[in-house]
Amino acid sequence: MEKKRKISIIGSTGSIGTQALEVIDKIRDKFEIIALAGGSNVELLKKQTEKYQPKLVSSSANPDLLEGNHNAKILTGMNGLEEICSNKENDIILMACSGKIGLRPTLKAIENGIDIALANKETLVMAGDIVMAKAREHGVNIIPVDSEHCAIHQCIKDISQVDKLIITASGGPFLHKTVEEMKNATVNEALAHPRWNMGRKITVDSATLMNKGLEIIEAHHLFGFDYDDIEVVVHPQSIVHSAIEYKDGSVIAQLGLPSMHIPIQYAITYPERYEGIKSKSFSFAEIARLDFEKPDFEKFPTVKLAYNAGKIGGTATVCLNAANEEAVFAFLDGKIKLYEIYEITKKIYDEHKVIQTPTIDEIFEVDEKIREKTKDYIAHLIQKVL
Ligand SMILES: NC(=O)c1ccc[n+]([C@@H]2O[C@H](COP(=O)([O-])OP(=O)(O)OC[C@H]3O[C@@H](n4cnc5c(N)ncnc54)[C@H](OP(=O)(O)O)[C@@H]3O)[C@@H](O)[C@H]2O)c1
Repeated sequence: MEKKRKISIIGSTGSIGTQALEVIDKIRDKFEIIALAGGSNVELLKKQTEKYQPKLVSSSANPDLLEGNHNAKILTGMNGLEEICSNKENDIILMACSGKIGLRPTLKAIENGIDIALANKETLVMAGDIVMAKAREHGVNIIPVDSEHCAIHQCIKDISQVDKLIITASGGPFLHKTVEEMKNATVNEALAHPRWNMGRKITVDSATLMNKGLEIIEAHHLFGFDYDDIEVVVHPQSIVHSAIEYKDGSVIAQLGLPSMHIPIQYAITYPERYEGIKSKSFSFAEIARLDFEKPDFEKFPTVKLAYNAGKIGGTATVCLNAANEEAVFAFLDGKIKLYEIYEITKKIYDEHKVIQTPTIDEIFEVDEKIREKTKDYIAHLIQKVL
């Protein structure tokens, strides 16, 4: 009998986490769930724990609320996530939390030789050099979940023959809107992504295109390509998930209907493939046309900023990530306008003194300081308006 893959999901209550459980529901006999972890949605986490009966469950909220009809050991906070990621029973851990929370648990899993299905791109944006070096040292596979990186992972046979990565971007809800319309966009307009149904933070990043910027940095670390060899092309239908160009000019792309179920399934079952979540066959005739255009870096300057941070390296990307994340939260709270996310991030970024080869502790220190500085600056801006 085929051995079940033992899996834990960090961020099981989020968009990626719940879709991962839907994938697992379709191929239940292939998996044993070791642990689930979530943030504030304790009610859903408790329901998941009662349904999947993992050995461990961890929440950042009050752990007493997790008591219920299950035998899982209840854990809490970062210690809980690190205990899950130290459990060598795991064959693979799906890192599906958002923001900086993923970094420490990812490092812990790598130290314990556990493969990672990585959705949490912030881990690589903050500490890609350290994470990838540790993964190589411990012989750990980092399998991308992000649809673009998953596409590239599927296209590459011999990386030494590849000249260029081509990352597609849907362009988000403001692709064909004016800068003026973008400036006055409401939170609901920014959250109305035309193709993907995702968590709030990444959806706002997709509206400003910062998500594409973060993905360029993620691709640099995952595949070891120079930033000049990573190109972005806008493709509104989100059918071509990304492509690679070989030395001889041949381009290999990965296509599929826009659904995160497929890259999630690919990552957690790799290198096997199952029918699993597949709902319908791909039809070129039904799709009929695919459009591509150059990204407008003037309208979406976040992408240029991310290229700049990536090329500088060190804590430049830590600063970019932290300032952007705090500005996005302020936008979601109705404190600033959409366009100000970029302006605030740029201001904080320009003032940052980069540490070129930071330790993990320095990365967290910079992250903390930048977040405080960004929050103070936003408070100052609000004060000025009142
Ligand atoms: N959604 C997508 O389609 C998509 C595509 C590609 C990449 N990604 C990446 O995947 C990651 C997750 O995105 P998402 O859209 O799934 O975000 P999301 O819906 O906001 O989910 C985030 C998850 O992280 C959990 N979490 C928050 N704080 C936590 C803490 N302190 N400890 C443990 N868990 C915590 C949340 O729990 P609660 O909900 O219980 O608070 C939730 O389960 C992001 O890095 C994103 O960039 C997402």
